[in-house]
Amino acid sequence: MKRQVRKAVFPVAGLGTRFLPATKASPKEMLPIVDKPLIQYGVEEAVAAGVDTLVFIIGRTKNAIADHFDKAYELEVELETRGKTDLLQIVRNIVPSGVECVYVRQAEALGLGHAVLCARPVVGDEPFAVILADDLIEEDTREGGALSQMARHFNKYQCSILGVERVPKEETQKYGIVHPLPFANRISNVDSIVEKPKPENAPSNLAVVGRYILTPRIFDLLATIPRGAGNEIQLTDGIAALLGEEQVLAYEFSGRRHDCGSKLGYLVATVEYGARHPELGERFQAYLRANAHRLDPSASTTED
Ligand code: UTP
Repeated sequence: MKRQVRKAVFPVAGLGTRFLPATKASPKEMLPIVDKPLIQYGVEEAVAAGVDTLVFIIGRTKNAIADHFDKAYELEVELETRGKTDLLQIVRNIVPSGVECVYVRQAEALGLGHAVLCARPVVGDEPFAVILADDLIEEDTREGGALSQMARHFNKYQCSILGVERVPKEETQKYGIVHPLPFANRISNVDSIVEKPKPENAPSNLAVVGRYILTPRIFDLLATIPRGAGNEIQLTDGIAALLGEEQVLAYEFSGRRHDCGSKLGYLVATVEYGARHPELGERFQAYLRANAHRLDPSASTTED
């Protein structure tokens, strides 16, 4: 029988050091892009791909995520009393009905591989998705969200699939890079994977970004591999071990990605989503056009 991806794991227990102090009491996945936290974009992408169980791996700042997805009884009563029905719908529909949220605590930030391993008791012996919500991926109008695209390939190939993107050669040191053996349009067998190689050592410029579909065999491997770079249990090391046993594919999804784990990527996403926002997009675009001289004093203005 063909297996399907029904569970998605959201590791949100990282320290988020690049965004301190904003991430002192709240995970970086709660940072909003305009009016929605990053984690909610990730959840919407997962639900659109057919996921019905969301597994959050939470850390130090454990309450923020659970509170966001929990029913906010007092807030709902208040909005109802004030007749704010639009906002009431928005807060009520954060998690669609039929979708379950499960929270697992990662007591110590021992790495992404360890965070994924923490999901084992909930995921069990099923294929599952991993979404790093700080990689915000715009939905492609024709092909759908990145995870939906990957889930379609999983339905066909029934093996682990890594979401990959071409990056400039000089940036390979920021990513896990695959050595691809292409066999169809935008899809390859992964021959090997290297964590953060220097450009001269990188086997390609295909970088693994925050979307994975993995078979449960990865749990056995994550449980036994030694700690790697940064003394952390690295997901890349687990995938490298998986490659020795099973077919693993790299899939170049369609859709613009924003690295919201970096301040610049986060700002760019905020500006682009703001400029397209149904309520304020036009006014924001007008502001940007009229104020170029404020944003970049060297830019000429119509008054010059
Ligand atoms: P990052 O490498 O982005 O690290 O983690 P970070 O701690 O979140 O952020 P910086 O680099 O210090 O600013 C990649 C993903 O893995 C999760 C993070 O929450 C993020 O989604 N993670 C990482 C865990 O859940 N647990 C860990 O032990 C490490």
